[in-house]
Amino acid sequence: MPTLFFVQDNQFFANRPIAQLAAEHGTPLYAYDSQRIRQRIQDLRILLPAAIGIHYAIKANPYPPLVRAISALVDGVDIASAGELDLALQAGINPHRISFAGPGKRDSELEEAVAAGVLINAESINELTRLAAIAQKLGRKARVALRINPAFEPKGAGMRMGGGPRPFGMDEEIVPDLLNDWGRFSSHLTFEGLHIFAGSQNLNGESIAAAQRASYQLALHLAEHAPAPIKTLNLGGGFGIPYFAHESPLELSPIVTALTEIAQDAAQRMPEAALHLELGRYLVGEAGIYVTRIVDKKVSRGHTYLVTDGGLNHHLAASGNFGQVIRRNYPAALAQTSATQSAHRRTETVSVVGPLCTPLDLLADKINLPMAEPGDLFVIFQSGAYGASASPQGFLSHPAATEVLL
Ligand SMILES: Cc1ncc(COP(=O)(O)O)c(C=O)c1O
Repeated sequence: MPTLFFVQDNQFFANRPIAQLAAEHGTPLYAYDSQRIRQRIQDLRILLPAAIGIHYAIKANPYPPLVRAISALVDGVDIASAGELDLALQAGINPHRISFAGPGKRDSELEEAVAAGVLINAESINELTRLAAIAQKLGRKARVALRINPAFEPKGAGMRMGGGPRPFGMDEEIVPDLLNDWGRFSSHLTFEGLHIFAGSQNLNGESIAAAQRASYQLALHLAEHAPAPIKTLNLGGGFGIPYFAHESPLELSPIVTALTEIAQDAAQRMPEAALHLELGRYLVGEAGIYVTRIVDKKVSRGHTYLVTDGGLNHHLAASGNFGQVIRRNYPAALAQTSATQSAHRRTETVSVVGPLCTPLDLLADKINLPMAEPGDLFVIFQSGAYGASASPQGFLSHPAATEVLL
């Protein structure tokens, strides 16, 4: 599968000169390439068995035009809040294609979700109890799947959501008894299936495949206790993208093998179940860039700094403060403006920092770039997921980044 790893020619994005995009839309700017997203989903569809659906996790990038565009390409979307529910409904997505996962759903959020008729992935017995009361109050039956915290831990995931004690989902050990005793909920909740999301940002295809196999076996076991046949089985996701120089794109073939076996087996043993994956960054992460303009250049005790008009307030992840254990530079480049093109021959080692008064506001540390001047553009690739919406945009009251879908 061809990788969409960041652009070969650093001066263009979505077939447009980056300098032109910055001139048209201003900086700081997030630009997303809809063609790359389409291509990524098409490539996945070719490889995956037809029985495996693809859902988009809106949290990865909730920019409304992007949500609207992607919703036509995937089988469903996963939401994590009432805000994302509104986004999904405004994008015209049928409630039957929406599922709602996340700890700490408030009563008002559950009410909205029940009223809209979306599938709710319940994260705790307390949540189920509140949900039943809300459904009763609204005179509706709520559609429910149980989010399971599996006993196994995925290997290689950058972030683990399953195995050990977790705030996400219900420990698999308590679920058989809960399902055996479903009668207490059955007048208000319709049991539809299971959701097992073990971890995220995993670049090891073998380990994702192993987690999928283990998730399917767990689902078969729990299905024996279920009050109704499994109609929906969310096998999670966790497909990672390479951010750093030492990383390689995810090898999909072990995943394809595992999912093919699972789909064949499920056709016999779980015939009513719609199987799907829930993917965020894998669908959109490589299809976005963040563009800042260099405002200042200074030398401090022999070290050169380029100061840009945006920083961790827009791109927390690139600054290394979004859960990374070791801070590393995202793939980045200098995009020349027509005024400065000829000057960019020699390179120099610089640190690129944002405009915030904190040493955490570091976009690239000791990076080798062509000689840059104020007015030039600094571009960060792999920025289509967990960018604008996952950054503290209000911090220091700088303007929010502009976003555009190309
Ligand atoms: C339940 C759930 N679904 C989907 C995702 C999306 O993960 P990613 O963007 O890494 O695919 C996450 C990430 O935190 C998650 O917790």
